[in-house]
Amino acid sequence: MKFKWTDALLINHEKIDNQHKELINRLNKVYTAISEEQGSAAIEEMLDFLANYVIEHFQEEERQMDRYQYPEAQKHKGEHVAFIDDFERLKKKYEVSDNKYQATLDIYSMCALWLQNHITKVDKKLGQFLAKQS
Ligand SMILES: [Fe+2]
Ligand SMILES: [Fe+2]
Repeated sequence: MKFKWTDALLINHEKIDNQHKELINRLNKVYTAISEEQGSAAIEEMLDFLANYVIEHFQEEERQMDRYQYPEAQKHKGEHVAFIDDFERLKKKYEVSDNKYQATLDIYSMCALWLQNHITKVDKKLGQFLAKQS
């Protein structure tokens, strides 16, 4: 199932919200690629894009945290690090897997679940904090 954007995911910070929408959009492209059996070259290109975009996005959030000395920065950054570790671990599994379809689906599912949870709980808190800063 595709990841459906809902306004419950808004953290009310324009730049971060737009990046979240783009992340979900890109993640859904991975899902489409599996569903349509687009082949490993297309899937790998999308996974690479996703990995780079996630890092760019985390850096943006962390810049905001540092700028306003967000008290929960350390914990929040720790979740970002854990995600990147998980992603890399699954990407390595994908590379050696005989079942690219399942391995891609595993990456997709982990990302979707993590994003849903992280955005609505951890990023939302950051959004509330940032709203009070300006
Ligand atoms: Fe985020
Ligand atoms: Fe975050």
